[in-house]
Amino acid sequence: MGNIERISGPLVVAKGMLGTRMYDVVKVGEEGLIGEIIQLRNERAVIQVYEDTTGLQPGEEVKSTNLPLSVELGPGILGNIYDGIQRPLEVLREKSGTFIGKGINADAIDRKKKWKFVADNSVKEGSSVRQGQILGHVQETEYIKHYIMVPIGINGKISGLKDGTYTVGDVIARVEEKGKKTEIRLSQRRSVRKPAPFSRKFRAAVPLITGQRVIDMLFPVAKGGTAAAPGPFGSGKTVIQHQLAKWSDADIIVYVGCGERGNEMTEVLDEFPSLKDPKTGRPLIERTILIANTSNMPVAAREASVYTGITIAEYFRDMGYSVAILADSTSRWAEAMRELSARLEEMPGEEGYPAYLPKRLAEYYERSGTVESLAGKTGSVTIVGAVSPPGGDLSEPVSQGTLRVVKTFWALDAALASSRHFPSINWLTSYSLYHNDLEEWYIKNFGEQFVENRKELMRILQKEAELKDIVQLVGAEALPSEERVTLEVGRMIREDFLRQSAFDEVDAYTSMKKQEFMVSSILLFGRLAHDAVSAGAGADRIASMKVREQIARMKEIKEKEMEEASKKLKHEIESEFSSLLKEYRQEGKELLSENGR
Ligand SMILES: Nc1ncnc2c1ncn2[C@@H]1O[C@H](COP(=O)(O)OP(=O)(O)OP(=O)(O)O)[C@@H](O)[C@H]1O
Ligand SMILES: [Mg+2]
Repeated sequence: MGNIERISGPLVVAKGMLGTRMYDVVKVGEEGLIGEIIQLRNERAVIQVYEDTTGLQPGEEVKSTNLPLSVELGPGILGNIYDGIQRPLEVLREKSGTFIGKGINADAIDRKKKWKFVADNSVKEGSSVRQGQILGHVQETEYIKHYIMVPIGINGKISGLKDGTYTVGDVIARVEEKGKKTEIRLSQRRSVRKPAPFSRKFRAAVPLITGQRVIDMLFPVAKGGTAAAPGPFGSGKTVIQHQLAKWSDADIIVYVGCGERGNEMTEVLDEFPSLKDPKTGRPLIERTILIANTSNMPVAAREASVYTGITIAEYFRDMGYSVAILADSTSRWAEAMRELSARLEEMPGEEGYPAYLPKRLAEYYERSGTVESLAGKTGSVTIVGAVSPPGGDLSEPVSQGTLRVVKTFWALDAALASSRHFPSINWLTSYSLYHNDLEEWYIKNFGEQFVENRKELMRILQKEAELKDIVQLVGAEALPSEERVTLEVGRMIREDFLRQSAFDEVDAYTSMKKQEFMVSSILLFGRLAHDAVSAGAGADRIASMKVREQIARMKEIKEKEMEEASKKLKHEIESEFSSLLKEYRQEGKELLSENGR
């Protein structure tokens, strides 16, 4: 036990701290504010305090809990909304009346609720169990079986494991090693600063399907992969993160609202409970854990919130689930690091950020991956981070540190956003390094043509960009019809496919099947248009075709009606072209038979 020597914003220096360890959690002052030791020299400790330190006085006492910063993991965790150090916002509000009181201890998980635990038959009385091994499960929600695993670091002979109805705090078994008995409960704690162990890592092979067309079709992220969405103010970072949280096909979503405006988080909190999972029809909140650390909350807790989130993500990964963790915005996290570092009077690196910023970013993204867990299950953590570079300039340290480590890059573009092209992901500067890893999966699930179509889309978009440069100089009229058709098809890809409203009920989410249908319809139009040009049709004539309108309205087609609509549309594209070709009969007929259409 020590005493406060001095206070500097969220940091407190305490003396008399002999016997404490780095990263131990301490209770600071009479109010027992929660903090973590981040520097230790002899008997002096520097503590970052996760709560508002106003009113603290030198001399007040500091007590160590002798435990590292950790989260509680167990049934009842899904659907919660936590602050940066895993205190449920609901409980904090109830206890303190105001938004957030101080020194409040709040259980992360309901301690009274009883769960039906089913022990795993393969675990026999007296047998040896290892860390991470599954002992049984609780059906936490209709779709999520919450596996109860031996806590990390615990190995030995098990006794007393049996089915029953337990609260998270009840002892469900004991594990004994060298005379030391450990009680096993439905919940366990994991330290947040250390990545959880696993057996081995796999190469990414399955895409995270997001229902967002520009992502799924052009710049996918793999399950277990990493992606970053940097963009200037108002470019749609938050909307993208929300879209992924709502629609992506991960089993579990961890959403970290990190240092952003409170009202954005309120939107999430209001909206989520009413949304349904397109896969299961169940409320989305049942697969979601929200961590809210808005700009008005203490900066140290913001620093911790990202670690709280990733630790929860790893826990579900270990059960064999695919988890996606979305952080909005990692720049605010980095700013929290900068503020703390400045108060510690560390040597500043670029733009005042601590020199270890790139390392922290890399370590965070490295906690992604598809793994075989210690339980022998295959699970994944996909990490997606929004980045808010001031002025949208990607040469700043947070963007640079992030781009070095992530494999998918969604470049949000101010110009697109201001012309209301959303998502404002620039198709020329964004990239995904997962195409090769995922190709086999696409071919297996959607056939070779799918991969070819994607490449064709990119080719047309790139060609369109080149042509646009020329048009700038000489005007569209100077281009041959062939190229004007390419411009037209490029425009269709952008307007009728890539552009997607997050706020339209039907458009917000597009299944892969429907995406495939949309792409192949546009490409069919493109091919026939080029044929028609070869047969003598002019570009203006093609641009004014009736079926263009129907292609533009593909977005509005409901998933249920898609199959039928797709056949009809293809038929109409073909028939309108064939009547157009009749005008250019001779050449047209020859072309059609040559191409086998
Ligand atoms: N996919 C989308 N569909 C329709 N509108 C969108 C879409 N994405 C963004 N917008 C529009 O752009 C606005 C700004 O988006 P958003 O709040 O996500 O930007 P941001 O990059 O998070 O901004 P900030 O830097 O302020 O956090 C939204 O309120 C919405 O009107
Ligand atoms: Mg935002």
